[in-house]
Amino acid sequence: MERIPLAIVGCGGMGHRHLYGLAELHRAGLSRFDLVAACDPVTDNAESLAAQAEEHFGKRPAVVGRLDGLADHGVAAVDITTTPRYHHTLGVDAVQRGWHAMIEKPVGLTVRAANRIRAAAAGSGRVVSTAENYRRDPINRLAKALLEQGAIGDPRFMIHQTAGGGNLMTISVWRHQKDQSGVLLDVGVHFADIMEYFLGEATTVYAQTRLHEPTRYNPAAEGKEPTSNPAGVYGRWQKAMPAHFQATAEDAAYAVVTFKNGAVASYLEDHAAHGKGLWSRQIHGSSGSMDMPNDRTGRILTLYQGRDQVIDDQRILDLVPDFRLDEATAALFGGERLWRYDFPFEQTDRKLIAVEYADFAAGILGEHPVEVDIEQGTRSVALSYAMLESGALGRAVTLDEVLSEQVSAYQQEIDQGLGLL
Ligand SMILES: NC(=O)c1ccc[n+]([C@@H]2O[C@H](COP(=O)([O-])OP(=O)(O)OC[C@H]3O[C@@H](n4cnc5c(N)ncnc54)[C@H](O)[C@@H]3O)[C@@H](O)[C@H]2O)c1
Repeated sequence: MERIPLAIVGCGGMGHRHLYGLAELHRAGLSRFDLVAACDPVTDNAESLAAQAEEHFGKRPAVVGRLDGLADHGVAAVDITTTPRYHHTLGVDAVQRGWHAMIEKPVGLTVRAANRIRAAAAGSGRVVSTAENYRRDPINRLAKALLEQGAIGDPRFMIHQTAGGGNLMTISVWRHQKDQSGVLLDVGVHFADIMEYFLGEATTVYAQTRLHEPTRYNPAAEGKEPTSNPAGVYGRWQKAMPAHFQATAEDAAYAVVTFKNGAVASYLEDHAAHGKGLWSRQIHGSSGSMDMPNDRTGRILTLYQGRDQVIDDQRILDLVPDFRLDEATAALFGGERLWRYDFPFEQTDRKLIAVEYADFAAGILGEHPVEVDIEQGTRSVALSYAMLESGALGRAVTLDEVLSEQVSAYQQEIDQGLGLL
């Protein structure tokens, strides 16, 4: 099997989670990567990742502080898991050095930053993949198959609503800073991808956006349990973050999104909600509707057909006789045709990241194009910013206006800070 020398660039929370994903793929006998280097200017983080990699692979990757240092290690591909601010400089640099790149979402900190990567990738012959994990959830694959099979007829509207968070810090300080990727981009970009995955191209967005909680609190700084610590990897850094700090990025969006196929989405993403939390994702079509579970939970999807036919068990698979998960997903989740699964979050998380790696390798080896390419990754960034641009302008915006940077007033100060103006 052809091997691809790989470096993980950015060894914080997601860098470690990617390592666990790669190890998961390796254990399943499906990895085509050799992890040769861990890159992070914070040496402790790179050393930590390298030490854990040695436990998984029996070989310690080199520790380097900058991309320059990777050339000596024969790298052919990089997995960029830094904070979003650096995605475009590292992504462009990597492609220009002739390396393939998988880049965490949001693929760029602004549309302009993502467009820079897009321009560098065009015609380079290098693969640029967006590490977008939510759509790869087997239950979202099932939902997509049901939609394609016409199980609810033609999609007419989607409801996506998520609310919670109060005034607590979401994982890290940077997720509340406009110039580093506020939470509506950090989390919203996943939902942007999901909406286009299910409904196709978005066309217009009207949104009201708010910054409800200008001060955020971090209980971990005072020795309390962190409230937001996915896969349990962030605790050690959260202890060193301030107990409270100013948030500069909006934390709520209330929007209407239209799609090329005529469907409309009612979208609510509120990270400052107190009281009862909220999760709802539904798609209604011309002959039925689907109620979808939260991503990465493995809970069941419920299908409603006609007036009173409810399918919420494995009979749902009868509606999609051709539904098959790809090889890696089927191997890791334990079946080609799944309608539910049940793993602790850390396991689900690493399985989905393993699937991203399998897709990236197949793209590099020319077996099929990567699923979430730089175009799609950029569209999701644009759809998230369309909400913020609309909120700032007080009018509906088209996705094309945002993608082409004709509408960029909200992003201007971020682009300026990045030296992109
Ligand atoms: N897909 C998901 O479910 C998911 C979940 C969490 C984070 N993410 C994404 O992963 C990325 C990283 O998030 P995180 O939670 O790991 O952040 P983090 O703050 O925990 O880690 C970021 C790391 O990047 C390093 N870094 C910064 N600049 C660098 C550079 N120039 N070269 C190399 N390393 C550099 C930092 O030192 C730090 O170790 C973000 O884009 C975030 O949106 C995705």
